[in-house]
Amino acid sequence: MKSNEIRQKYLDFFESKKHSIISSASIIPENDSTTLFTGSGMQPMVPYLLGEKHPLGTRVANSQKCFRTDDIKDIGDNRHTTFFEMLGNWSLGDYFKAEQIDWIFDFLIKELKFNPNKLYISVYRGNDNFNISKDSEAVELWQNKFKSVGVKAEAVDNAEINGMKNGRIFYYNEKENWWSRTGVPENMPNNELGGPDSEMFWDFGEHLGLHEKSEWKDKPCHPACDCGRFLEIGNNVFMQFIKTSNGFKELKNKNIDFGGGLERIVVAMTDNPDVFLCDLFTSARKEIERLSKTKYGQNENDTKSFRIIMDHIRAAVFLIGDGAHPSNKDQGYFTRRLIRRAVRSAYDLNINSNFTSDVAKIIIDEYSNHYSNLSDKEKVILDEMEKEESKFRKTLKEGLKQFKKRTDITGQEIFNLYQSYGFPIELSFEELDKEKIKYDKIKLKKEFEEYQKKHQELSRTASAGKFKGGLVDSEEKTTKLHTATHLLLAALREVLGDHVIQKGSNITAERLRFDFLHSEKMSSEEKSKVEDLVNEAINKNLEVLCEEMPLEEAKEKGAMGIFESKYGEKVNVYSIGPKDNKFSYEICRGPHVKNTSELGEFKIKKEQSSSSGVRRIKAILK
Ligand code: SER
Repeated sequence: MKSNEIRQKYLDFFESKKHSIISSASIIPENDSTTLFTGSGMQPMVPYLLGEKHPLGTRVANSQKCFRTDDIKDIGDNRHTTFFEMLGNWSLGDYFKAEQIDWIFDFLIKELKFNPNKLYISVYRGNDNFNISKDSEAVELWQNKFKSVGVKAEAVDNAEINGMKNGRIFYYNEKENWWSRTGVPENMPNNELGGPDSEMFWDFGEHLGLHEKSEWKDKPCHPACDCGRFLEIGNNVFMQFIKTSNGFKELKNKNIDFGGGLERIVVAMTDNPDVFLCDLFTSARKEIERLSKTKYGQNENDTKSFRIIMDHIRAAVFLIGDGAHPSNKDQGYFTRRLIRRAVRSAYDLNINSNFTSDVAKIIIDEYSNHYSNLSDKEKVILDEMEKEESKFRKTLKEGLKQFKKRTDITGQEIFNLYQSYGFPIELSFEELDKEKIKYDKIKLKKEFEEYQKKHQELSRTASAGKFKGGLVDSEEKTTKLHTATHLLLAALREVLGDHVIQKGSNITAERLRFDFLHSEKMSSEEKSKVEDLVNEAINKNLEVLCEEMPLEEAKEKGAMGIFESKYGEKVNVYSIGPKDNKFSYEICRGPHVKNTSELGEFKIKKEQSSSSGVRRIKAILK
């Protein structure tokens, strides 16, 4: 069965269970500045999971385009991709656990003909600290399903320590089997939804020896082990709790959030753990084989180059299709990195003239049946590819020479490599690694940013005359309003309470617009208190600092922000105010001003309802 058929089968199956099939949201989130990309199927569904009425009813399903930036540099193994499609179905206060387990099991076993003996399940162990009991209900439901196909399904706890003991269903703690936007229960703010989840795994089998070859070889293998023997193919989230100041409360209207990776399901069906052998890549792979006169899978280095090219060009096609043209910043910078890294890998395969638009065309043809915007935008996508590749190819060879015969590197050189030779800093780091040159990543990154800023200021001065207060100026204004937005969130939490979290944000050069969780209209007293707090912070000339750290650490340190997934790696955390008495502390991608003194006077223009339980503020800087 082909991937395109499997996607359709899933949608048809859930349509037959009375779901409305919706199209994929854009990969670039609308009105949600907290995250650059849509990284899971549920992200665009959040307002409805929180109680807003969905125009199409209480049962919806789709296949969502997703992009995860975390591990661009790790692409090259057999199962990671930056772009993927997530098959999702949601119950918005409609059906719950029994139906979900019944249907998803039937879909895999009856529709896709999965061998039930190779399917494994995980469930939540429960935790007295949160007063949430172990999910024996899910266990029983799964056991009945397995029994119906003649498979014994013992439930086992502590497999991490004691091994699998012939179990089929495994209990794990909240790190594995709890899902909320904000991660584990203790990190969730009040009024946030979450719940236990139950994951499904495919077993590629002991015979491949993946565990013995992995870094976990001294520990027992079990479904949630990372060695690659088991592949997670889907996650059933039982969104049944809301966090309150008195602990977790059961929702009257419980939700289901299911998400499963299309390619992973395909790969499980073929019982071959290499995602890049999925049929969606076949034509692209053959074209790269033809151009490089190299066969896929012959040696480790070439295989890695193939995978990088296939993954990155496909992702770039989807990003450009949704409007992220290659550029120096935000989403466009990822598109640029993807294309340039693909071209760099093609160089290793001796592909020495433009090829990305050929491969892009193949990808468009492969996907445009389901994602028709790709064929609509074909010309733009191919043109952008061609332009970006030509630009980089001009300097690629000279650029590569810069990494040879050196023992160290300065921030200015790293900047020069981007400015003059087109090497994004991340790509330069990779080249340095290849040459075994030692360097201080954090220091170089900081220096790079300083040079970039200086350079931007210079070109700004140069172009100020040309653009008469145009783009550059408005960028400065939005940056100021962005910093003001952080101050606003901190002030709202101070005045209204810790339940206030960001629900959306939209900033233009003229004003900020900020949506946040709060159910009542704000009184004029509350509004002026918030204004005063923000203006006090501005007048204190507080320093704005940015620090990079792993997502887990940021959460532990209490940084605000929407933690879109548990797969996140390094994030930027912006703090405003002194270290020991921060006014604001948020995970964010910037940009921000350096000091609050740059902002001017903050004024709330409007406070109104945005949707149920969500208020909206419009504010300006005078
Ligand atoms: N929200 C869950 C996930 O991203 C299931 O859709 O894994």
